[in-house]
Amino acid sequence: MNSPSSHSLYAQRRARLAAQLGAGGIAIVPTAPEYPRNRDTDFLYRHDSYFYYLTGFAEAGACLVITAEGQSTLFCRPKDLEREIWDGYRLGPEAAPGVLGMDAAHSSAVLDAQLPRLLENRQSVWYPHAIHNGLAERVEGWLNAVRARVRYGAQCPAVQQDLCGPLDEMRLIKDAHEQDIMRRASQISAQGHIRAMQRSARMLRAGEDVREYHLDAELLHAFRDGGSQYPAYGSIVAAGANACVLHYRADAAPVRDGELVLIDAGCELDGYASDITRTFPANGRFTGPQRALYDLVLASQVAAVDATRAGARFNDPHDATITVLAQGLLDLGLLDANKVGTVQDVIDKRAYFPFYMHRTSHWLGMDVHDCGSYVEPGETDRTTERKDPLSGETILNRPSRVLQPGMVLTIEPGLYVRAAEGVPAQFHGIGIRIEDDAIVTATGCELITRGVPVDADEIEALMRA
Ligand code: GLY
Ligand code: MN
Ligand code: MN
Repeated sequence: MNSPSSHSLYAQRRARLAAQLGAGGIAIVPTAPEYPRNRDTDFLYRHDSYFYYLTGFAEAGACLVITAEGQSTLFCRPKDLEREIWDGYRLGPEAAPGVLGMDAAHSSAVLDAQLPRLLENRQSVWYPHAIHNGLAERVEGWLNAVRARVRYGAQCPAVQQDLCGPLDEMRLIKDAHEQDIMRRASQISAQGHIRAMQRSARMLRAGEDVREYHLDAELLHAFRDGGSQYPAYGSIVAAGANACVLHYRADAAPVRDGELVLIDAGCELDGYASDITRTFPANGRFTGPQRALYDLVLASQVAAVDATRAGARFNDPHDATITVLAQGLLDLGLLDANKVGTVQDVIDKRAYFPFYMHRTSHWLGMDVHDCGSYVEPGETDRTTERKDPLSGETILNRPSRVLQPGMVLTIEPGLYVRAAEGVPAQFHGIGIRIEDDAIVTATGCELITRGVPVDADEIEALMRA
């Protein structure tokens, strides 16, 4: 949260953004609305990431306005004793300038009246496009109010620009403050995974009926115990063949002796996500086929990690993963070389796709699938076409993003083997993913999630403990 000592960080971000608005520019950044769940209950509130990035302010009902000259005005909920008795403390516009380093602050009740005045005589208005329901219409309304005054000499901004462009580029590179929070979020999440692994083995050793929700409870305990506010996304706790459902959620299925468990879960700490997947034997001992597939996925992750460094492309870790998985699928008999051919054929025909159907990485930051362009901004006109071998569709490719120090991405290869003809029965129902979070450095990457091991022997040792 914000304090007078930390508000300079947010002020610096606002100044950097202001410098990109162009002469006469003005930016409007609302936070997220509250969503009613039913009757007197709202869904758990989560601020808007862009707004928080520029303010460090987590209250609902607020909106930030920044001018190209660097003036910051906050609209926030007014002090209200009755509402504060029911819903809790409000900072209020009187205290906001001192606490948040704003130049001015007003009650959000006057937003609609004030915005036309702030927009008057500006050249361009920036706001995040396609993020907030109804915001474009509200901006139109404010602009119309300005237009109503043009006969009195007022000028109406002629240009509307998407604020996501400059903000996404800023958020893509994580500064030291952000990296520090993300390291701590990762450590908390790692503890959750360790607790879940150990709980599974302990209960099975005691002959107890283990359910997915028992392991989910360990995650939640560790997240809150470590000071995290909530999970960064719906935790996946998938026992046995449930692991082959990519977006499975922690439910009540039995966790059986002899099966694997896939857990994809990470906490959010102070506005930043972590995102870890581990796959482990429920009883603490991999079977032969489980271990063979596990070691293959791990080898593909090692190749992806080796390909992750400043100057490499975003797609390089994915390509490295695919090469290792393709070879392994042939070696283990999941793909038949007599039918699909060589490793290169497997790659060219995307024959691995039934077993590996997602990408290896995404940006990670305030949002678990964080913002930021995946193509290199200076090379968007360097397009190539290729025909997808599976769908037959023509796909337009652009060179993927060149990695830079401070970018944070996940590295998460997997294999998902559904029962099917021609697939060796010993692998049926096995789903494995291994996911770590990496900060790109000049020479490689820092894996910030290795507080929980990935090596199969180390996982077995941990689960014996
Ligand atoms: N937990 C979502 C993902 O791994 O992308
Ligand atoms: Mn992920
Ligand atoms: Mn994940």
